[in-house]
Amino acid sequence: MRTRPCPLLLHFLLPLLIFFISPSIAADSLTPATSIAANQTLVSAGGAYKLGFFTPPGSSNTFLGMWYNNIPVQTVVWVANRANPIVNSTGVLTLDPTGVLFLADRLGNVVWNSSSGSSNITNPTAQLLDSGNLVLRGESSSNATEEIVWQSFDHPTDTLFAGMKLGYKFKTGLNRYINSWLNTNDPSPGEYSFKMDPRGVPEFYLYQWSTRIYASGPWNGEEFTGVPDLKSNDMLKFLFVSNPDEAYYTYEIENSSIISRFVMNSSGLLQRYVWINSTQSWSVFWSDPKDDCDDYRACGPYGVCNVDDSPICNCLPGFEPRFPQEWNLRDGSGGCVRKTQLSCAGDGFLPYQNVKLPESTNATVNMSLSLEECKQSCLQNCSCKAYATANVSGGGSGCIIWTDDLFDMRQFDQFGQNLYVRLAAADIPNLNATSSGGDSNNNKLAIILPTISGVLLLGACGFFIWKKKKAKNQSEIVSFPPNVGNRPISVRVKNQVGKDSTQDHSLEDETSTHEDLDLPTFDLGVILDATDSFALANKIGEGGFGPVYMGKLEDGQDIAVKRLSRRSSQGIDEFKNEVKLIAKLQHRNLVRLLGCCIHGEERMLIYEFMHNRSLNTFIFDEEKRAQLSWEKRFEIILGIARGLLYLHQDSRFRIIHRDLKASNILLDREMTPKISDFGIARIFGADQTDAYTRKRLYVS
Ligand SMILES: *[C@@H]1O[C@H](CO)[C@@H](O)[C@H](O)[C@H]1NC(C)=O
Ligand SMILES: *[C@@H]1O[C@H](CO)[C@@H](O)[C@H](O)[C@H]1NC(C)=O
Ligand SMILES: *[C@@H]1O[C@H](CO)[C@@H](O)[C@H](O)[C@H]1NC(C)=O
Ligand SMILES: *[C@@H]1O[C@H](CO)[C@@H](O)[C@H](O)[C@H]1NC(C)=O
Ligand SMILES: *[C@@H]1O[C@H](CO)[C@@H](O)[C@H](O)[C@H]1NC(C)=O
Ligand SMILES: *[C@@H]1O[C@H](CO)[C@@H](O)[C@H](O)[C@H]1NC(C)=O
Ligand SMILES: *[C@@H]1O[C@H](CO)[C@@H](O)[C@H](O)[C@H]1NC(C)=O
Ligand SMILES: *[C@@H]1O[C@H](CO)[C@@H](O)[C@H](O)[C@H]1NC(C)=O
Ligand SMILES: *[C@@H]1O[C@H](CO)[C@@H](O)[C@H](O)[C@H]1NC(C)=O
Ligand SMILES: *[C@@H]1O[C@H](CO)[C@@H](O)[C@H](O)[C@H]1NC(C)=O
Ligand SMILES: *[C@@H]1O[C@H](CO)[C@@H](O)[C@H](O)[C@H]1NC(C)=O
Ligand SMILES: *[C@@H]1O[C@H](CO)[C@@H](O)[C@H](O)[C@H]1NC(C)=O
Repeated sequence: MRTRPCPLLLHFLLPLLIFFISPSIAADSLTPATSIAANQTLVSAGGAYKLGFFTPPGSSNTFLGMWYNNIPVQTVVWVANRANPIVNSTGVLTLDPTGVLFLADRLGNVVWNSSSGSSNITNPTAQLLDSGNLVLRGESSSNATEEIVWQSFDHPTDTLFAGMKLGYKFKTGLNRYINSWLNTNDPSPGEYSFKMDPRGVPEFYLYQWSTRIYASGPWNGEEFTGVPDLKSNDMLKFLFVSNPDEAYYTYEIENSSIISRFVMNSSGLLQRYVWINSTQSWSVFWSDPKDDCDDYRACGPYGVCNVDDSPICNCLPGFEPRFPQEWNLRDGSGGCVRKTQLSCAGDGFLPYQNVKLPESTNATVNMSLSLEECKQSCLQNCSCKAYATANVSGGGSGCIIWTDDLFDMRQFDQFGQNLYVRLAAADIPNLNATSSGGDSNNNKLAIILPTISGVLLLGACGFFIWKKKKAKNQSEIVSFPPNVGNRPISVRVKNQVGKDSTQDHSLEDETSTHEDLDLPTFDLGVILDATDSFALANKIGEGGFGPVYMGKLEDGQDIAVKRLSRRSSQGIDEFKNEVKLIAKLQHRNLVRLLGCCIHGEERMLIYEFMHNRSLNTFIFDEEKRAQLSWEKRFEIILGIARGLLYLHQDSRFRIIHRDLKASNILLDREMTPKISDFGIARIFGADQTDAYTRKRLYVS
């Protein structure tokens, strides 16, 4: 009997035996024939990551974890048994022939397994990849193809690796999220999680236990609208994917020599670290939440948070604080209420600029709608509260519609997006008085640089060059605008009106000697700065002669820049007339040309920026017409009349506009009318009271 081994003893000793006899692992893979224990580790093929056991300082708990192999500071980025440590013992990791990883202590008590329940594979292998992913695969028993049955990337701890997906796989219901350690020395599940809410337009939330404390804002194609300082760059590329199968966020590191990790820190901060080789330490590259405005729903419904304001909460235009007293006591969480209730039928929209888009859990997205269709779609649904472009990249596409109250917005200086907020018609005109910083997209469309005026641009710069070449004594023929379709149009200034000739000469003299004064030239650099290098976001229109951009000069002045397309060089001559006129005319009811810019083949005209488009967009639009009170209309009429009076009588020249119509009346922020488009205007001698002018010519 003595010779028979005791089965019970064998059973208990087996793990120990495995522990002592198992070969030391210098590989990246584990098979059913091997195991790792105590000091043994797996190292990924490229040497980036190491998998093994670790015991946090001051603790007797042992965990199976993964850390960087090349970094002297042990930085644990993944933990298998975080919720169930090995206490007062060492661990053994084995791979079961059926394809399940088991982690047990020295006595064989299993503390963790990779069971996914469903899969059934043969010849399993667990391999640590150089991406930091521990992958368990084998041959599917029903189907001889190789299959991944489990991977650590689907079970993150507190760190998002490059290439790891943070978010949902809808088919299986798998929700990958990162959860902080309990504290720096304890990898047990901590209080903070960063997790996607896939409903509506997917968005990430930072939770403290189960309470939301921060929201990323919806992804807009380039970034999270609440995290404007984290755009893809040469080093890191951020991606967001949302389709019926899955919705996730991930990032890629473009340069493999860079080591970076995204961590849910145990003190509640989302942090991105990069490894600095020269100092041999981690450096915080980015961290959020940062400020009071990052607090979830800091300003309540319809409130907008702005850290530069004091107090930080404001109401959207058209709204007022729900509890003014609390608001004054700097508690904005009660939010705002409408000044005028929506009526559904007669409502309009107010664009609000540079904003973190509202919480989008209950929003709906339709990628096939344009912004205009989006507006229509919102108008048709009485419960629609706001809309915005879903994807701002590539000029913008798609449509998000909010039908619930708007929460968690914040105002940025230059990032963020345009949100179109539905308001009762009565609340919209207030725009005239406020400088809410809101009406940006309107502004964009609003640049009223008619096509013809655009042609002018071509001419503006060319004109002065042309003029220099031209002999000064061009005497009595003052030709405006010459050579349209090869047919010179000229106004003959009768010789007997000597004064006129003199006048014209003086005009010529003045323009040629003071042309810098009359029409300042801007450095290309200044224009590039002002328009953010002609950023697509600043493009406000495209005329027949090239695109128009809005911009802001260093001194804060808003400008509209017409960039003449190169192929339209034939327009040069046509517009010298207008350029000369506009540059010399100064009246509050005339649009002002601020200057031009010539750089190589580039020619640009710089105008003052008109925030409220042209008059026709108001009076021929059902919705906006209501915004013009009779007083306002009268003021506009008066302004136009003043402008005309100046043109006809009070300026140094007698100018007949010849194309006065609503679309040529631009409106600035205060709704001051400005006459524009002098493309076919004529100058007459100051004493001349009648003349024959040709019928208008359209410049093609
Ligand atoms: C693990 O490594 C430590 C330090 O190198 C050593 O003292 C210890 O004996 C090793 N344990 C085993 C089980 O090899
Ligand atoms: C682990 O060891 C410590 C000290 O040796 C002891 O106080 C503790 O009770 C042990 N824990 C368990 C779970 O055995
Ligand atoms: C693996 O772990 C899960 C819990 O994580 C448990 O429900 C399951 O029974 C375990 N499977 C085995 C074979 O131990
Ligand atoms: C796995 O395959 C074996 C043999 O084919 C079968 O007995 C077992 O039920 C299967 N397990 C599962 C979970 O499908
Ligand atoms: C085998 O498995 C692969 C991957 O899981 C699957 O695409 C394929 O349809 C399966 N084939 C059969 C015959 O089940
Ligand atoms: C969390 O962040 C703080 C501040 O940056 C840092 O001191 C601490 O070590 C971090 N904790 C972890 C677990 O990385
Ligand atoms: C990667 O970065 C290292 C320094 O961090 C640099 O020397 C190397 O040129 C970079 N490689 C590429 C392809 O950018
Ligand atoms: C990092 O620094 C060490 C010395 O501090 C140097 O040996 C190593 O080549 C450096 N690695 C890289 C990628 O620059
Ligand atoms: C998106 O809008 C188009 C055009 O109105 C419509 O045909 C389509 O059904 C919409 N898609 C969704 C998902 O609502
Ligand atoms: C308005 O939109 C909401 C949310 O998308 C939808 O449930 C409702 O049916 C829509 N109403 C109409 C009239 O289209
Ligand atoms: C979304 O809808 C749910 C259910 O109707 C509601 O409880 C929740 O407050 C809504 N969320 C927002 C942000 O309006
Ligand atoms: C703006 O409109 C309101 C209401 O129509 C009016 O009371 C106010 O005077 C206007 N402000 C300006 C600056 O025109």
